[in-house]
Amino acid sequence: MAPSAAAAISSILLLALLHPAAATAARHRHRLGASLLAAAPNVSQPPTTFFEVDRPIRPPRGSSAGPCSTLLLSGTFGATYGRPPVTAAYAPPACLAASRAGGGGALALAVLEWSADCRGRQFDRIFGVWLSGAELLRSCTAEPRPNGILWTVSRDVTRYAALLAEPGEVAVYLGNLVDKTYTGVYHANLTLHLYFHDTPPQPPAQQQADLIVPISRSLPLNDGQWFAIQNATDVQSKKLAIPSNTYRAVLEVFVSFHSDDEFWYTNPPNDYIQANNLSNVPGNGAFREVVARVDGEVVGAVWPFTVIYTGGVNPLLWRPITGIGSFNLPTYDIDITPFLGKLLDGEEHDFGFGVTNALDVWYIDANLHLWLDHNSEKTTGSLLSYDASGLDLNVNSEFSGLDGQFVTSAIRHVSATGWVKSSYGEVTTTFYQRFRYENSNVFSKNGTVQITNQTIDAKSGIFTKDATAVLLSEELHKIFPLYIYTGTTDKVGDEYSLDSLVKLGINEKKTSGGKLGFLYSSLHNAQTGRGTMRVKKNLVVSGLGKTHQVYKYVGTDGCYFRDVSSRNYTILFDRSDDSCSKGAYSRASTKLNDQPARRKLLVNKL
Ligand SMILES: *[C@@H]1O[C@H](CO)[C@@H](O)[C@H](O)[C@H]1NC(C)=O
Ligand SMILES: *[C@@H]1O[C@H](CO)[C@@H](O)[C@H](O)[C@H]1NC(C)=O
Ligand SMILES: *[C@@H]1O[C@H](CO)[C@@H](O)[C@H](O)[C@H]1NC(C)=O
Ligand SMILES: *[C@@H]1O[C@H](CO)[C@@H](O)[C@H](O)[C@H]1NC(C)=O
Ligand SMILES: *[C@@H]1O[C@H](CO)[C@@H](O)[C@H](O)[C@H]1NC(C)=O
Ligand SMILES: *[C@@H]1O[C@H](CO)[C@@H](O)[C@H](O)[C@H]1NC(C)=O
Ligand SMILES: *[C@@H]1O[C@H](CO)[C@@H](O)[C@H](O)[C@H]1NC(C)=O
Repeated sequence: MAPSAAAAISSILLLALLHPAAATAARHRHRLGASLLAAAPNVSQPPTTFFEVDRPIRPPRGSSAGPCSTLLLSGTFGATYGRPPVTAAYAPPACLAASRAGGGGALALAVLEWSADCRGRQFDRIFGVWLSGAELLRSCTAEPRPNGILWTVSRDVTRYAALLAEPGEVAVYLGNLVDKTYTGVYHANLTLHLYFHDTPPQPPAQQQADLIVPISRSLPLNDGQWFAIQNATDVQSKKLAIPSNTYRAVLEVFVSFHSDDEFWYTNPPNDYIQANNLSNVPGNGAFREVVARVDGEVVGAVWPFTVIYTGGVNPLLWRPITGIGSFNLPTYDIDITPFLGKLLDGEEHDFGFGVTNALDVWYIDANLHLWLDHNSEKTTGSLLSYDASGLDLNVNSEFSGLDGQFVTSAIRHVSATGWVKSSYGEVTTTFYQRFRYENSNVFSKNGTVQITNQTIDAKSGIFTKDATAVLLSEELHKIFPLYIYTGTTDKVGDEYSLDSLVKLGINEKKTSGGKLGFLYSSLHNAQTGRGTMRVKKNLVVSGLGKTHQVYKYVGTDGCYFRDVSSRNYTILFDRSDDSCSKGAYSRASTKLNDQPARRKLLVNKL
């Protein structure tokens, strides 16, 4: 289902077609213009290294010192839009084969590293990396400069151990377009780093699935292997049968939103758009959710983190500190073990995804992680209770002309309990999700100022027990605050100025208790960006962006703290610490006293 050329350009070029100062949502999308980028490269200036602030991935204690590293694929992405993904045959590295044959320690950590460079001018491009159809990384490219840029993204892929152990095919789709204006060609290397436990006595805890079944589109394709969901009624699905000895199943969902829904949380209701005769402003209001279904029944939902890509609001904000999640988009787990009873019949079942209120386009796929009972050919199960009482959505809408206020709130609750009988006994599993959403969008000054303030609060948990004991009790609580101010001024013809302030974050708490012991982690990850820019025909001709980020992780598996700020491509300060002492954190300035920022464009020579 090759999308049209226009849809192709997805998050980026479409934006350039919007008339930004027209009124509302178009303000979020801009590009760096020729004057900021067209200058001949100055060979004595080194390329800029972009990065996403994240916790370093470290091998667990008692694992081999250096990794066993394998280059999986090396690719060049020029005119790749609407072309088949770049592929390479995958064979498990010799070190992994040896470890599985018992000739070494068990796999302790697997890290997938994407490392890329680019030079010139280019939009931010979404890309995906798949192994044998299972997605391993969803990411957005950095926007280049004349002198070039470099960046790397690492993702812990240990949970795909079963997939890494089998021969297969690596596929990367990065839909890029190159012409006289957009000259950037991306070069990338994809490397797998493996670490093993030192000594053969293996740790007993088997946390990774035995089998990973992709719920994505199969090659050959002239696109990514994700499903493209284009509207509110579009449900994309795949039929598949699972092994009859499955005793646990978890759906891992990948999500990204583009084009008309790239900034879905800023979209006004349709009646406002109609009343003001706005033709280029995407609508359907500001609420979206991904709903996962098995055989048509809701098994869970994803209320996604509001990732802002590297060209979003004001592209100068994300240089070189990129937006939270933009280089490594978060994935979302839905435990479907309670539903196994009806899936163990050896027949095909339908796994589908839809997006409430969707506008074109959402890229969604999933990996189904399955744990198999090696001591029996057949497990059995049954659903005991199930409650998915629909979405409760309220919109309070008031407007006069281009000014108005829209307050949206939503709640959803899903819970299911079921038992599965295997050689581990009869185990009862409960999985639940509880979501809350509040969004306010205020338009003022004749629609030239928009303020979005949103909070998503998502709680989920798993509880398992057998006849004698509680086996696992886990709770994950995520809060995603978001605040965006954009103000358009000094509009003359096709030129205008834009001020912006963006605050976004992830606050996450996880607790887990059971046979594997007690685990706890807490993450506070917050960014504040302020920027100004002058835009001409959707190209940023001048401007400035400043971003401050505080990342604080405390867990039973270690701690990490970082306080970093950048302005105009330069790091102002960068403090980090990985000790768990209290003092390490109190040193952190928590007040965010930087200057302002706003939405999406191409920069001309910044
Ligand atoms: C090139 O960059 C160097 C180092 O930043 C600077 O000293 C020099 O003036 C630049 N040359 C030009 C032509 O801009
Ligand atoms: C990819 O690997 C090749 C060979 O090691 C190296 O020359 C090149 O610089 C790498 N490119 C990137 C973007 O890391
Ligand atoms: C929604 O999208 C699907 C898939 O592209 C399409 O078949 C259907 O006609 C669309 N429905 C509407 C109402 O646009
Ligand atoms: C709405 O916009 C169209 C096209 O720009 C124009 O022809 C029409 O007159 C406008 N209608 C109103 C009520 O402003
Ligand atoms: C408000 O904005 C609209 C569209 O940009 C414009 O036509 C109108 O003249 C503006 N009204 C005032 C009072 O500035
Ligand atoms: C956003 O809304 C929340 C909840 O309504 C409120 O507490 C907070 O102060 C608002 N933030 C800003 C910056 O207005
Ligand atoms: C931003 O940095 C560039 C050099 O990279 C410099 O030419 C420009 O003057 C700086 N802008 C501001 C406002 O500091």
